[in-house]
Amino acid sequence: MAGKVLVAYYSYSGNTKSVAEKIHSIVGGDLFEIKTVQKYPANYNEVINLAKKEKAENYKPQLVEMPDISAYDKIYLGSPVWWYTFATPIKSFLAGADFSGKVIIPFCTHGGGGAAETFSDIKNFCPDSVVKTGYAIYERSVKPSEMENWINGEA
Ligand SMILES: Cc1cc2nc3c(=O)[nH]c(=O)nc-3n(C[C@H](O)[C@H](O)[C@H](O)COP(=O)(O)O)c2cc1C
Repeated sequence: MAGKVLVAYYSYSGNTKSVAEKIHSIVGGDLFEIKTVQKYPANYNEVINLAKKEKAENYKPQLVEMPDISAYDKIYLGSPVWWYTFATPIKSFLAGADFSGKVIIPFCTHGGGGAAETFSDIKNFCPDSVVKTGYAIYERSVKPSEMENWINGEA
């Protein structure tokens, strides 16, 4: 019997949200948007610079809320690629609850550079979780058959 599923994502400009909704429509369970208390600037150059600084300083922005992770067995976790890795709010999310023993199935959207360190960094950040093979998508250009193969392979 499959355990309870959560699809959690952070999205700055909507691409990861779009992909998360598609995944959720297939795998079901609960859908959770990770939101920061302090909104990121709308200006692209400002967010680029701020994200670079946050990565360098290992900053974890405060989140509006956390779901009850203990209620789930399997967590699809979506992030945009920011500076070759997962977005800073994901760091807050992963630090904000006990993910040990949980199955984490990561996905990311990117602007052409691919996943880079996104998935390996999630693995390193969650040594006590079972981190499955990630799925990287250019912006929001999901190929349905490819996505289904990934879900069937990792679910
Ligand atoms: C702060 C910041 C850093 C980014 N760094 C990268 C990167 O290192 N590699 C890449 O391919 N795209 C990068 N991008 C582009 C985003 O990963 C891409 O547009 C993504 O699909 C955005 O997802 P979202 O709409 O869910 O926020 C960056 C975007 C931002 C805002």
